[in-house]
Amino acid sequence: MDKDRKLIIAGNWKMNKTVAEALDLVKGLKRDLSQVKEVDIVVCPPFTALSEVSREIIDSNIRLGAQNMSEHSVGAYTGETAAEFLKEFLVRYVILGHSERRQYQKESDALIAKKAAAAHAASLRPIICVGELLEHREAGQTQTIVDAQLTGSLAGLSSVQLLETIIAYEPVWAIGTGKTATSEQAQEVHASIRAKLADLYDDNTARQVRIQYGGSVKPGNARELMSQPDVDGALVGGAALDARNFSDIINNSI
Ligand code: PGA
Repeated sequence: MDKDRKLIIAGNWKMNKTVAEALDLVKGLKRDLSQVKEVDIVVCPPFTALSEVSREIIDSNIRLGAQNMSEHSVGAYTGETAAEFLKEFLVRYVILGHSERRQYQKESDALIAKKAAAAHAASLRPIICVGELLEHREAGQTQTIVDAQLTGSLAGLSSVQLLETIIAYEPVWAIGTGKTATSEQAQEVHASIRAKLADLYDDNTARQVRIQYGGSVKPGNARELMSQPDVDGALVGGAALDARNFSDIINNSI
């Protein structure tokens, strides 16, 4: 079993938390997690809180991520946010292709691949999300769908860039529903993702890539999920909005 990959647990706050609430939350996390060395801890606040949160965590073991970015560099793209601007706040990670953006903003794999290229060009690490709908799972199409999302979203990335990329497997039916994939279901898809990465790149590269699970991760199911051989971390939504819950997920995963 190859588990020398360091766990990465990220909190996706989605469209939640005013600046004051965001600061409260990270102060709690700093207090609860200051001793943790075994996990890369990332928080992904909304854009409007990045500046203040960045200042608050500067000397801590908590790293900053964004929830999205433009595929373009600076220029005439009203309402968009360039990677360069995220870098001003010491953002290191960026979630790309979250299922909510795939669904509501109609983001395609091709667009996600462009964003991933732009992220790497700015030395940001993309967290690329993939995952099937319930109807896909019920039709036995999980692997086909996830493989196609990987092929499309990683198009053009070199193996060196892939090593700086995190994959998040988030079954859409498990997001925000309280319905978690069982650890066996998660492991099965994570292993198939790693096999696909080996196919697209090579075995050695695939072995090193960190693959997070996301979808109703809670303190009570984190340990079991993280103990699976191909599960290297978590992308946490709802439970990341509360300092105690997020800290418990991290502490229970170690
Ligand atoms: P959830 O969200 O933990 O609330 O299910 C996960 C995500 O959307 O990243």
